Parts: sequence; structure tokens; C-alpha cells
Amino acid sequence: MARYGGRQTVTVLPGDGIGPEMFSHVQKVFDTATVPVDFEMAPLRADLTIKRDEDFENAIISIQRNGVALKGNIETKLEDPHIPRNMELRSRLKLFANIVHCVSIPTVPSRHNDLDIVMIRENTEGEYSGLEHSPQPGVVESLKIATKVKIEQIVRFAFDYAVKYNRTKVTAVHKANIQKLGDGLFLKIATEMKEQYPQIQFQSMIVDNASMQLVSRPQQFNGGIMLMPNLYGNIISNIACGLVGGPGLVSGMNIGEKYAIFETATRNTGTAISGKNIANPTAFFRASCDMLRYLGLDNYANFISDALFIALTEQGVHTKDIGGTAKTSDLVEAVIKNINAEMKKQKHIKFYGI
Ligand code: NAI
Repeated sequence: MARYGGRQTVTVLPGDGIGPEMFSHVQKVFDTATVPVDFEMAPLRADLTIKRDEDFENAIISIQRNGVALKGNIETKLEDPHIPRNMELRSRLKLFANIVHCVSIPTVPSRHNDLDIVMIRENTEGEYSGLEHSPQPGVVESLKIATKVKIEQIVRFAFDYAVKYNRTKVTAVHKANIQKLGDGLFLKIATEMKEQYPQIQFQSMIVDNASMQLVSRPQQFNGGIMLMPNLYGNIISNIACGLVGGPGLVSGMNIGEKYAIFETATRNTGTAISGKNIANPTAFFRASCDMLRYLGLDNYANFISDALFIALTEQGVHTKDIGGTAKTSDLVEAVIKNINAEMKKQKHIKFYGI
């Protein structure tokens, strides 16, 4: 990782839509909290006229040098013939695990309260192989790739995560009754590996039932992990984000052996609400806190997430997406004010890089 003089450089891919404005808010909050992190900007946009390869390769080099990136979503235009850049980044950097922690925030209106579910999704293969072709007019074949190596990697990651973070149960979500080979392999590996983790409860659930259970009785997954192949993981994670308040609230981590990218959980661009001062910056703030924790800067992360939590709960600063009237800037200012107030009280510890 690029750490110079006690400071860490991270790559920032602002992306499209609300991404650029959200990262300017993250920067302000980092400055207020004296976070020892510098941003190296790597603009990657959906604009088809932009010289694609050069920008993309520069972004990859920057992330490889820094080890870590904060990312907004890059729009995927339907007419763009290339593999989506979001996907290409994840596969080039081998970011095999996507982790989304869906936890209810008191006072944020939602369909269910007191939820605490971790979603772990395989992030690089399955339906996202990008291998589609048309062998004859009117026929399309889309390849879903399942490999033992990658399934073992994600299943191992989920059980290890459960042990490390005291999650009690792993639920493997699949459709092995129909996709007997691909999902069958996923289920077989998960079922076998559970034997090595006797302290963790294990169950499997067919994806259609899991979707129904999640919206009707999500509390049954509390304290546990839902472990999923790529596409089911995307859909189920989005459902869970919806249950705890929507796309503006939840962050998502993409973790590999060497690199990590932190972004919002639902990976939307929010193009229609950009420039209007109405987007909820919470998911971006939480992504930046996830990144700080990954870098071992837990004090700074806790400081910012506490300031955010107080603004959302005690102070009730709610943007439109969660039923309030606050503007983006109201929430940003509240967070900054809370950080300043806490810094006065604590004489916030300076990071001297030792
Ligand atoms: P979108 O950007 O239109 O967002 C969906 C809804 O969530 C909208 O109503 C939006 O206003 C709201 N929203 C999103 N962020 C918000 C925030 N911070 N605060 C308040 N409201 C917020 O989503 P859509 O149409 O699904 O995707 C837009 C683009 O992103 C497309 O190009 C799509 O391909 C791409 N995308 C890529 C993904 C990937 O990982 N490759 C995943 C999802 C979308």
C-alpha cells in the first residue's frame, strides 16, 4: 500500500451521476476529521468518446499502486459494446468477494426494524462472465461460469468472515434444483466446507424461497451471513438494502487478495438526482469508513460514523429518499458540525505515522 510519511494515498474513481459531488463531501469530512489520507483521482466515465483504454489502464495502475480505491458507479450504456468497466475492474483486480452489511438505522423509516444481515456475494464469475453469443438468428447463448477454485474461495471467505466477526450462521443461497451442475457445485462445496466450521450453523435455501423469506421474515437471517453466487447475490443484496432504507444508505466492499474497492452497496449512478443537492451521502460516507477500517484507521472511521449516526438518529437529518426534507448539504454540514464538536471534547488524536 502507498503510505508516505504516515499518510496513505487512495485512488478515487468518482464515476458518473452523483459520484463526483459525493466524493467532494467525503473529502470535506476527511479534512474536518484530519484523516491522514490523500486522494488520487482516476476519472472513468461512461462517455463513449473518452479514450477508454488509456483511462482504464491508468485507473488500474493507480489502484495497484495504492492498494485501495473509493468508487462511484460508472454508468453502463446499453449501446456500449465493451464489457462494463465496473465489472472489468472487479475481474482485473480479482476482487472476488462483495460484502454488504445491511443493518437497520434507528429512526430511518423502513419495512422491518432491527435487521442485521451480512451479504457475501461471489463477485467475478457466474452470469457476469460476459460470454454471450448468437449461434443463429433468434438464438442467444449466455454462459454462466462456475469454477471450483472460485467457489471454494468465496465459501472459505464467508466461513472465515463468520468466525472473525462472530456471525452465527451461514445460509447458502442457490438454485441447484434447476442449475444442477453450476449451482450444484456451489451447494456441494458449501455443504462440505461447513464440516470444517462446526461452531457456525449452516443451512441452504433455494433463491426463490430466500427472496420470499427475506421480505416476509428477514429477522430469521439476523446475526448471520447470506452466501451467494454472483447474480443472486446482486439481487438479494439489493432487496436487503431496500429493506433497511434504500440505495442512499448502505455501502459495499469488494475484496481481493491484494486490492480492495469500496463503493455503495447498490452501485447506482443516481444520474437523475445529480446536481440537485438531494442525494443521500450516507452510503458514500459509510463506504469511506469501511475503507478507513480496512486501512487500520479505525479511530477515524469510528469518529466519522458516530458523527453520521448522531446526525441521522438524534438530530433526525433525513434526506428525501428516507422521508425527510433535508438537503444533501444539511446532512454534510451536520456531520461536519458533529465531528468538530467531538474533536473539541476529545482533542482528537493526531496520527503521527508510527
Ligand atoms: P439509478 O442510478 O437510477 O438509481 C436507482 C434509484 O435510486 C433512483 O431512484 C435514484 O434516484 C435512487 N438513488 C440512488 N442513489 C441515491 C442516493 N444516494 N440518494 C438518494 N437516492 C438515490 O439506478 P439504475 O438505473 O439501476 O442504474 C444506473 C446506472 O448504473 C446504469 O448505467 C446501470 O447499468 C449502472 N449499474 C451498474 C451496476 C454494476 O455494478 N455494474 C449495478 C447497478 C447499476
